[in-house]
Amino acid sequence: MGKSQHIHRPVADDKEDTALSLRDNDRAASGTEPVQQMRISRRSFLKKAAAAAVGTAAVAGGYAAVWEPGNLEITQFTLQLPRLPASFNDMRVFHFSDMHLGFFKDENDMQHIASVISGMKPDMICFTGDIVDDYAESMASSVPILNSLHAPLGKFVILGNHDYRGIPEGVEALYKKTGFTLLKNEHHVIHKDGQSIAVVGLEDIFLSTPDPEAALQGLPDGMFKLLLMHEPDYADTAVSYGFDIQLSGHTHGGQVRIPLFGAVLPPPGGRKYVHGLYRVGADAMPLYVSRGVGMTHLPIRVLCRPEVSLITLRTAL
Ligand SMILES: [Fe+2]
Repeated sequence: MGKSQHIHRPVADDKEDTALSLRDNDRAASGTEPVQQMRISRRSFLKKAAAAAVGTAAVAGGYAAVWEPGNLEITQFTLQLPRLPASFNDMRVFHFSDMHLGFFKDENDMQHIASVISGMKPDMICFTGDIVDDYAESMASSVPILNSLHAPLGKFVILGNHDYRGIPEGVEALYKKTGFTLLKNEHHVIHKDGQSIAVVGLEDIFLSTPDPEAALQGLPDGMFKLLLMHEPDYADTAVSYGFDIQLSGHTHGGQVRIPLFGAVLPPPGGRKYVHGLYRVGADAMPLYVSRGVGMTHLPIRVLCRPEVSLITLRTAL
């Protein structure tokens, strides 16, 4: 019995195996096979879905990190300004901002912007801060490029909050080699055909102290004044000082924008006026907020192309 049991077991096992095989055959015959196919199909589907997800992420990542940041928009428009002297009528101001050199931007990007500027032959060039992301050294290789730029009415610059993060004296020292006039709570008067206007630059609101009274000291009340101020929301204060126009940056337009919602995280100092043209105060002072060229924190832009602007200032005749 024991022997037969020993002999039998394999047989029984065989029977069991056979039975299992039959059951498998039964499953196959009775339509259970598609379950296995479904398993295979499900596995295949998951593989394809994963591949699609990776592909979509790669495309979206490429769009946000490569295409959008490299797709520069040149904004051009005309503003009528009643107090602009006739001698300066149709003056073309090239405005750019927020290069953030050292954070996925370098001298090649600066060279590209310089080529755009040179091609447009503006009368004046204004840069509204954040030439570097953190350290002055990131700007060094762009100094000859900045120095090569020419504008008959001058090249003007202010510091942005990022320019103070390293050693601001480093950025200031480098600007001295660029031919740009750095305005720190200061003004510069431009004369043309017996008439004059002033370009005024204020210090950054977070890491320094803007002082419009000091910046305006010595200027006649009625003189046309173009203000450069990194943070656009300062326009609510600037408007009471009689500026004729304010150019700003700082926000990067939000960098990441969602349709019907707007900028996801506009920075402090740029939450009210995020990008584009605004009219501020009772006198409707024009404020233009550039989306800037560079990026910070994350090397991406979404629905928020980098921007430079050519603004024509026209006398209201
Ligand atoms: Fe910036």
